[in-house]
Amino acid sequence: MVSPKSSFVVYGLALLPALVTSSPIASGYFERKLFSRDNITATTVTAELGPRLSSGSLVFGSDNPQWSNATSRWNRFVRPDVQVVVEPAAECDIAKIIKYCNDNSFEFLVRNRGHGITSSLSAFSGIQINVEGLQDITVQPDEETAVLQAGTSGGQVIRELWDQGYVTTTGATQCVGIMGPSLGGGHGRYNGLYGLVTDNILHYNVVLANGTEIGVNETSHSDLLWALKGAGHNFAAVTSIVKKIYPKDIDTWHFHNYTWTQDKLETVFETLNTFHKSYNGTTPPKMGVNYGSIIMDRSVSTAEAVLKWGFYYAGPAIEAEELLRPFNAIGAVAEDMIDLSYPEVSDLTSGDCVSGDLAISSVLTLEYNATAERALYNHYIAKVAEYPELGATAYLWHEGYATAGYQAIPSESTAYPHREENHIMFFATAVPEGSELLDAANVWAKESTDIWNDGQPGRRPKLYVNYAMGHDYETLESIYGYEPWRLERLRSLKVAYDPEDHFRFFVPIVSNSTS
Ligand SMILES: Cc1cc2nc3c(=O)[nH]c(=O)nc-3n(C[C@H](O)[C@H](O)[C@H](O)COP(=O)(O)OP(=O)(O)OC[C@H]3O[C@@H](n4cnc5c(N)ncnc54)[C@H](O)[C@@H]3O)c2cc1C
Ligand SMILES: *[C@@H]1O[C@H](CO)[C@@H](O)[C@H](O)[C@H]1NC(C)=O
Ligand SMILES: *[C@@H]1O[C@H](CO)[C@@H](O)[C@H](O)[C@H]1NC(C)=O
Ligand SMILES: *[C@@H]1O[C@H](CO)[C@@H](O)[C@H](O)[C@H]1NC(C)=O
Ligand SMILES: *[C@@H]1O[C@H](CO)[C@@H](O)[C@H](O)[C@H]1NC(C)=O
Ligand SMILES: *[C@@H]1O[C@H](CO)[C@@H](O)[C@H](O)[C@H]1NC(C)=O
Ligand SMILES: *[C@@H]1O[C@H](CO)[C@@H](O)[C@H](O)[C@H]1NC(C)=O
Ligand SMILES: *[C@@H]1O[C@H](CO)[C@@H](O)[C@H](O)[C@H]1NC(C)=O
Repeated sequence: MVSPKSSFVVYGLALLPALVTSSPIASGYFERKLFSRDNITATTVTAELGPRLSSGSLVFGSDNPQWSNATSRWNRFVRPDVQVVVEPAAECDIAKIIKYCNDNSFEFLVRNRGHGITSSLSAFSGIQINVEGLQDITVQPDEETAVLQAGTSGGQVIRELWDQGYVTTTGATQCVGIMGPSLGGGHGRYNGLYGLVTDNILHYNVVLANGTEIGVNETSHSDLLWALKGAGHNFAAVTSIVKKIYPKDIDTWHFHNYTWTQDKLETVFETLNTFHKSYNGTTPPKMGVNYGSIIMDRSVSTAEAVLKWGFYYAGPAIEAEELLRPFNAIGAVAEDMIDLSYPEVSDLTSGDCVSGDLAISSVLTLEYNATAERALYNHYIAKVAEYPELGATAYLWHEGYATAGYQAIPSESTAYPHREENHIMFFATAVPEGSELLDAANVWAKESTDIWNDGQPGRRPKLYVNYAMGHDYETLESIYGYEPWRLERLRSLKVAYDPEDHFRFFVPIVSNSTS
């Protein structure tokens, strides 16, 4: 059996010895120091770096009881070779850690909530900087912005701002970090009203690859600001941000979910397409998102999959139900609805926080294609029969965010390249531990994205950087944009800000493995 690690790593870095950093990159700009130290132990790092860090900082290795928590990953197929964990107690420690790593030729990786899924993370070997302890959320006197530290999560930000009377854009899932999603764009329930997570960030405090601390905004390093908004994982360690907040003038969200049998599939997707164009050609901005899956639900049928859809509306039931009338008319076998405060809505996602060994692949589309969805359904049913162990958890996921907030922002103004796209879809299945089904799961994942992409003839495949897995069919252009100037600009910024390519473990833009 191909080991999960080797079959997932496609960026060509995984087989390099830990600290012998012969450059895999063609460009002469990206050569790193060739000397290395042979010891990188918690004892050494504690002795050398420990005294320089603020009190409360931690340095530990695999013998520490906190190790498994500090190195756990949502997707257990992501396996960075973490040799030592450093937990800074203050933002200013991050620069000291990075300088220390550079002085000793140790690689470093920022980790917050461990939900990064790309296989390029598995190429990492070195010191992991766990920023989860930096959790301050401070509303500014202007009451229009808040300072969020690097370790905050979506759930924390939603709840703490709510308690003080505000909301802001975050990812939808409460256990995911704020920074991780925002560096790649950031999709969530407030996209329709306020744009992407990144669209609301006015200022970043960052540490560059060489350990220099700078502030990044419209008047300070505005070139880097552009890159942090969509390709940020490649450029800097963020210690905190200044982000726009909004008064919480919406008391409750209306949540309505449906289970439809497969004979309704065409009607569901046609109704969704109409719905997503119903507000001046776009999605009603307050219908923050609807998520849907094609999935087995054995309480409904053991032979057929069902369609399960949930809609989230920023406002009262009466407004939401008016918009949902076409969906109510389809005829569900089960449905539920409830009105909740915004933090309670975010609690609905807690089930997504459970980790597993997951095979995933994703696409972006302008609209749904009912013919392609029927083909996917048939393919899914055949695969469930062929691989019942995978079928037990496999699903085809569909995201329909309200897009008006971020489609109002010019595409070229940020590195996020996919503002015109309306839907994110992915296939996912958990590969049972110890089974030999990883290859089969990856084939299923690939075939699913192929069917989705066949449903948009004439368009080139695109995907969201935060959902990229590192499959060989995910080109850098499909992730960072096909316009040649985008990757050119990113790479020239890379030369300016990270010439030794230290930030190369999350969908690296400098890579020898792509088209
Ligand atoms: C269950 C689940 C739900 C998701 N939901 C959403 C969603 O609703 N919306 C959305 O847009 N995306 C979503 N995603 C994708 C998400 O954006 C990425 O997985 C993101 O990388 C996770 O961030 P993290 O802090 O949890 O993970 P980590 O693995 O800790 O971080 C991911 C990467 O981000 C970088 N990074 C994190 N913090 C910093 C920092 N302070 N400075 C520099 N680099 C940093 C590092 O490269 C790191 O490897 C989801 C993913 C999962 C698994
Ligand atoms: C490296 O390890 C050796 C033996 O484990 C030790 O003697 C030496 O002092 C260490 N070097 C550094 C720089 O820590
Ligand atoms: C992991 O650590 C974080 C931060 O210290 C803590 O909030 C969380 O409860 C821990 N999780 C487990 C499973 O111990
Ligand atoms: C922009 O960043 C610089 C450098 O950190 C800072 O001095 C300045 O106040 C910032 N401007 C704004 C508007 O935040
Ligand atoms: C279209 O946009 C205008 C404002 O530009 C708004 O007043 C109107 O309600 C919108 N139409 C629909 C159907 O939502
Ligand atoms: C609706 O969502 C709730 C909460 O997640 C869940 O318990 C219920 O089974 C769902 N119902 C349908 C019909 O999907
Ligand atoms: C829908 O998908 C099918 C393939 O499944 C394709 O032949 C057809 O052209 C697509 N329709 C549109 C409108 O793109
Ligand atoms: C660190 O990198 C930045 C950006 O490349 C550069 O401007 C600065 O001079 C560097 N600082 C040091 C100390 O090398």
